[in-house]
Amino acid sequence: MEAIISPSLLSANPCNYGEDFKIFNNKDIKSIHIDIMDGHYVPNLSFGIDQVAALRKLTDIEFDVHLMVTEPDKFVEALVEAGANSITIHAEVALHLYKSIHYLKSFGIKAGVAINPATPIGCLEHIYPIANRILIMSVEPGFGGQSFIPFTLEKIKALNEIKKRNNYDFTIQVDGGITLGNIKEVIDCGARDIVIGSSLFKQDLAENIDLFNKVINEIKNIP
Ligand code: DX5
Ligand code: ZN
Repeated sequence: MEAIISPSLLSANPCNYGEDFKIFNNKDIKSIHIDIMDGHYVPNLSFGIDQVAALRKLTDIEFDVHLMVTEPDKFVEALVEAGANSITIHAEVALHLYKSIHYLKSFGIKAGVAINPATPIGCLEHIYPIANRILIMSVEPGFGGQSFIPFTLEKIKALNEIKKRNNYDFTIQVDGGITLGNIKEVIDCGARDIVIGSSLFKQDLAENIDLFNKVINEIKNIP
């Protein structure tokens, strides 16, 4: 699977979503990352369900919802109705993770599980066969614009080894602190869905998408 970039709307200017979505269409962006925070699991607030529904009217691109909330199951049905195509919940708060993954899948959407930098990948061992995506957080969740935590590269690499060895289906996603300086490294380690916030929306969005895609294409073209 080729790597894709998923723009994280957290860093976008809320007055500009319509224009940004046009750029995503022109640049063939496959997935838009939407962070939902409850002020409990993380010390911040962000998008709500009604905003997801309003944004859905502006584009057909996949909505990848990253739920940073303490009770994720509570919001799943409403989010699917609002237009989420993929929902990722945090392993640290899912008391019944196996059940929650099946619950997500019962809506016909992609089911993802995220882990924070200090959470070991081993806690996901029993859900590897059923998860559609595993999100390795490369910053502590809650805010855009933080610096990439280097040891998370080892987690991506180890997870990718497990994926290859067992032929698992899940996609490895990485989120937090991705820049033009480290995107190659995360892809080399095995990440294929690269969430990018502040590095994409600073200055010219279209130009930045081109710059990131250039790096991805260079990796692709290595024999
Ligand atoms: C952080 C969010 C990220 C955030 C990434 O909790 O999950 O999706 O938008 O932003 P950058 O790329 O600026 O670290
Ligand atoms: Zn996120």
